[in-house]
Amino acid sequence: MPIKEIRENIYYVGAIDWDRRLFDSLIPLPDGTSYNAYLIKGSEKVALIDTVDPSKEGELVDNLKALEIERIDYIVANHGEQDHSGTIPTVLELYPMAKVVCTPKAREILADLLLLKEEVFQTVEDGAELSLGDKTLKFVHAPWVHWPETMLTFLKEEEILFPCDLFGSHLATSNLYAENKEEVYPAAKRYYAEIMMPFRNLIKGHLKKVKELNPKLIAPSHGPIYSEPEFIISTYEDWISDDVKNEAVIAHISMHGSTEVMTRHFINSLMKRGVGVKVFELTKSDIGAIAMALVDSATLVLATPTVLGGPHPLALSAAYLVSALRPKLRFVGLLGSYSWGGRAAERIKEILGNLNVEVLQPVLAKGYPKEEDFKALDNLADEIAKRHKEFAK
Ligand code: FEO
Repeated sequence: MPIKEIRENIYYVGAIDWDRRLFDSLIPLPDGTSYNAYLIKGSEKVALIDTVDPSKEGELVDNLKALEIERIDYIVANHGEQDHSGTIPTVLELYPMAKVVCTPKAREILADLLLLKEEVFQTVEDGAELSLGDKTLKFVHAPWVHWPETMLTFLKEEEILFPCDLFGSHLATSNLYAENKEEVYPAAKRYYAEIMMPFRNLIKGHLKKVKELNPKLIAPSHGPIYSEPEFIISTYEDWISDDVKNEAVIAHISMHGSTEVMTRHFINSLMKRGVGVKVFELTKSDIGAIAMALVDSATLVLATPTVLGGPHPLALSAAYLVSALRPKLRFVGLLGSYSWGGRAAERIKEILGNLNVEVLQPVLAKGYPKEEDFKALDNLADEIAKRHKEFAK
């Protein structure tokens, strides 16, 4: 991204990664991403807010050179993950007098990950302020978005919040600002689902602090800047609320067609009862899309055959993902076919054991499903529709 002056003496100096398609060797990035870094020139001191992924360090360095930045006093590290911190060593080589400003926990993490020396750090407590002369940075500890060391930085005079990953979106776009809501909303939801959803309850507290700060601009470390912060704040309030929708996520896989027949019957049965469905065949589905569907659905249904005495490995992997993402599901349904027994349902229940959900009576057919199996699937659909009436919107 070319340098942009977002306010007088406050610059976007980050990089867009148009071509990246995988993050953490796990998360698909269909829309690329960006690593946003910001330079703040105060009347006395200069601060860099976060850096960029090491693959893009050349762009950050070129931007600092183009701005003729002769000194950086502070490198604010809101978060230790390397897509924001990984270029700190390079910036320190160029500006050896700079201090790395971070939480005490981040100091530990950054020292371990980047092998930084003890003397480069200046740790800040929750609520601490740092003067740049005519500008003041205030630091708000916000642990677990999404690592334990994270903090938010607020530029008081301009009322700009730099929340690093919080409110981010993996979106490579030429739009510096999130004016195109249709472009930003799905990317922000995918990001929330994959990165922030496991910390939903902690984010409730952080949102309260953000609202108290009442920022005029929210400048995250991925994706566009919010010039209308209420859009992303209210969107987050919706996602983190306890409300669920009258929807079921159906994640399914079959080997020889029996589980497939059951799944098709069950999907129709739910639809006839007015339950919305989001269907994912596990050999073809993007895990980010499944995560997004889980943000507000009331129910998850896993459909798997029995393989080697347990669930199909892709169903096992999906269950593990759901357990890690901790969505606000209320109910889990299980269905599938087996031939000579096994523990498919028990294994999935064990994996999902950390979730506060009710696991409904599984429907397991021996071999190809028969009349009683289809009836059991209809009963399961009845139960889900009835329970959704109690809980879902
Ligand atoms: Fe964008 Fe947690 O790093």
